[in-house]
Amino acid sequence: MHGLTNQRVMIFFFIIIISLFSSILKYAAGGVCRSTARLDGKVVLITGANSGIGKETALDLAFRGARVILACRDVEKGEEAATEIRTRVGGAKVEVRELDLADTCSIRAFAQRFLREVDHLHILINNAGIMMCPYMKTADGFEMHIGVNHLGHFLLTYLLIGLLKRSAPSRIVVVSSLAHNFGWIRFHDLHSQGSYHSGLAYCQSKLANVLFTRELARRLHGSNVTVNSVHPGTVRSELLRHSTVMSLLFAFFSVFLKTPKEGAQTSAYCAVTEELQSVSGKHFSDCAPAFVAPQGRNEETARKLWDVSCELLGIEWD
Ligand SMILES: NC(=O)c1ccc[n+]([C@@H]2O[C@H](COP(=O)([O-])OP(=O)(O)OC[C@H]3O[C@@H](n4cnc5c(N)ncnc54)[C@H](OP(=O)(O)O)[C@@H]3O)[C@@H](O)[C@H]2O)c1
Repeated sequence: MHGLTNQRVMIFFFIIIISLFSSILKYAAGGVCRSTARLDGKVVLITGANSGIGKETALDLAFRGARVILACRDVEKGEEAATEIRTRVGGAKVEVRELDLADTCSIRAFAQRFLREVDHLHILINNAGIMMCPYMKTADGFEMHIGVNHLGHFLLTYLLIGLLKRSAPSRIVVVSSLAHNFGWIRFHDLHSQGSYHSGLAYCQSKLANVLFTRELARRLHGSNVTVNSVHPGTVRSELLRHSTVMSLLFAFFSVFLKTPKEGAQTSAYCAVTEELQSVSGKHFSDCAPAFVAPQGRNEETARKLWDVSCELLGIEWD
């Protein structure tokens, strides 16, 4: 009798532990994009779509019928991703084009060809990113994080904004991060020449993504082109390739991290959800509005960053 009670208590605790564990996993998985919107006839461009969150976002949007263009710096890796998407989505319309966001010549060449060959752009997803790399510079001498994550996408968006306007209603999704909370824009040393910390350089670039989104939304008011930023969650991907410590930490806690498919949900949500048709300048996470740090809401900083970015890139964007 006593043995039977012990057995029941153990089964009870076992069930409690299993359900607690599955609740934690469900929580870690985050929000799900429930929109069933179709994208037949629509054109989507995603940067850094050969791996991680970008590849899963491309798969989701290809599944909805869009023509999806994967902009990748490594065309071979891009073709592998495109083949995988075609295998998983019968009849998927996926193309690969070369784009290196660490080189303004590559960005300009990409945009020139894109504008010549593609006559609409309904969704632009600025997804590509680099995190915690050793001190490196882009071809134009920009620090790598601010150069790729912010300035590269700034220039790309500038070059494609006319097409986005002509294709309206259209949307821009900027993949930022929770890391923007820990960043500030170091106008006195934007390229970290005085001192460099790879984590802070990443945070600065992700804050720049949020500020760019807000300022662009303000400037696009009334154009029927919206722009929102996203925190995808903490996702198992190749992003940490430059940091052994962070890679080990992520590997240890990997069971609590999102899969790339789960990480792609908020990007897909911002790209397709009907309720967001006229929502612009906002920040989302887990398919819901998310907190923006005070430094990400500062209009003066956003305008100053805009002007500094234009100056660095040698462009005029009113
Ligand atoms: N994973 C997370 O937990 C997490 C959290 C918050 C935000 N994010 C953001 O999510 C986005 C996607 O990251 P991920 O996690 O999916 O990482 P990922 O698997 O490393 O994907 C990053 C993509 O960006 C591309 N890329 C890097 N430098 C580039 C350049 N110079 N030109 C063109 N493409 C370039 C990479 O291409 P290669 O394969 O050729 O390097 C890759 O396709 C990033 O913006 C990241 O900051 C991720």
